[in-house]
Amino acid sequence: MQNALWWQRGVIYQIYPRSFQDSNNDGIGDLKGILQRLDYLVQLGVDAIWISPIYPSPMADFGYDVSNYCDVAPIFGTLADFDCLVTEAHTRRLKVILDFVPNHTSDQHPWFSESRVSRDSARRDWYLWRDPDSNGGPPNNWLSHFGGTAWEWDSTTRQYYYHSFLKAQPDLNWRNPAVRKAMYDVLRFWLDRGVDGFRVDVLWLLIKDDQFRDNPQNPGFTPSMSSHSRLLPLYTANRPEVHQIVREMRSVLDVYPDRVLIGEIYLPIEQLVSYYGSDLKGAHLPFNFQLIDAPWSAYGIARIIGEYEAALPPGAWPNWVLGNHDKARIASRVGVAQARNAAMLLLTLRGTPTLYYGEEIGMVDAQIPPEMVQDPAEKNEPGLGLGRDPQRSPMLWDSSSFAGFTNETPWLPLARNHQNANVATLWESVDSILNLYSRLITLRRSSRALAAGRIEAVSAHGNVLRYKRRQSGEIFEIVLNLSNDPQELPDLSGEIILSTYLDRKGERISDKFIIRAAEGLIILLSGETDS
Ligand code: GLC
Ligand code: CA
Repeated sequence: MQNALWWQRGVIYQIYPRSFQDSNNDGIGDLKGILQRLDYLVQLGVDAIWISPIYPSPMADFGYDVSNYCDVAPIFGTLADFDCLVTEAHTRRLKVILDFVPNHTSDQHPWFSESRVSRDSARRDWYLWRDPDSNGGPPNNWLSHFGGTAWEWDSTTRQYYYHSFLKAQPDLNWRNPAVRKAMYDVLRFWLDRGVDGFRVDVLWLLIKDDQFRDNPQNPGFTPSMSSHSRLLPLYTANRPEVHQIVREMRSVLDVYPDRVLIGEIYLPIEQLVSYYGSDLKGAHLPFNFQLIDAPWSAYGIARIIGEYEAALPPGAWPNWVLGNHDKARIASRVGVAQARNAAMLLLTLRGTPTLYYGEEIGMVDAQIPPEMVQDPAEKNEPGLGLGRDPQRSPMLWDSSSFAGFTNETPWLPLARNHQNANVATLWESVDSILNLYSRLITLRRSSRALAAGRIEAVSAHGNVLRYKRRQSGEIFEIVLNLSNDPQELPDLSGEIILSTYLDRKGERISDKFIIRAAEGLIILLSGETDS
């Protein structure tokens, strides 16, 4: 893998723009704010930023409801600010990945306004319009991810339109060639501006059944689940025709050198890997979210790694994710102590790691009082724990009242403990999680075994997860104690390169070695690091 590409070698960092850095004190993060923090990202050592949507939007779903694909929302800045950000990022050798939201537009998008005017509108067929069923109700039983039916009645034209998410997010009709062309033109618009790739929103949902058949009941449904889970999404997700679209998107990117296509896909492994496409002409990186739902156990994670590696098509490049703007933060899921092991895991597995902003400071989910709830997922189905505000709280930069994110009230409350767990304080503390992240990224960069080597001997010993990474003579063993008790390891010898406690470097270990509670270790077995 000497010739590994940037998106194979590199570390991706997700920025949720509303929450990263506010530059004009309106309490909402923006592009100029991101610009101010580029040097931090360089210091941390990441290679690329993926920015969640920045396009004009009524913000019904905080930017995932786009009303113009080829501009920047005023709250985030201007196109000129964006161009400046790309230039400055590239000057620092950082790549810029945008979020592409092709499944649905905002109901305020001019395409939809035109589509809903009349059944004869030239853009009628750009969306999914259907007659009522024989009783005047919705055309079928399809459900919205955000609760209730996915069909909204339009009294003017007396038909229903389909929305996978909010009724303010009508789904585009991807069977219509004009829609495809328009959306590929959007990709080119940004590629021409120097964007290095896209993370494609809900890629596996793009095409729905052409016969609009009812989805079957889900026998595993329980009332604690979102109401969307009542049905199995047989006819609304992962349809066979989707792969042709992925291929077409990829061919748009392939005209430009060195671009990356990443897909947001929540599917079991076997189906997930089909998104690499035949001949690997699909997504470069179908996001692998298995660590997000995995139970925190050595056995469970060893199994996931093994199954994933086995399922990858030949030549497909793996990737791993611990969290994103839709899921509870890793430090809240596994605790602050194990969050360090999670960091070591993410940055030593084979494949591209994607970090979610704040993971590097061990940020936890913020407490959101009911009156401050913003997320429509929570507003529509309160109390099920579906709300995503907790993981979208502002980045914690320093110990000032609003954590250096803004000087005015931020749009979401800060996570607790921001006086101590912030970037400025943690950089100063030699054994902080932030310094651990930075050391892990540096080590990964300097080691071909960690960046691109094989992964071997994945196993669980009690609750200790072990695996090796190897590349021409350089062999590391990674040992992660996922329990909160010390464990004795009978059969380990080598030299400690890095402990999650950030001590013990250079210590030689042999028989009957004790790994501390929640400790993770990178051990050099033979050969030498390049650094
Ligand atoms: C994706 C996004 C999520 C959004 C949804 C609808 O899952 O990650 O935040 O609400 O798509 O666009
Ligand atoms: Ca702002």
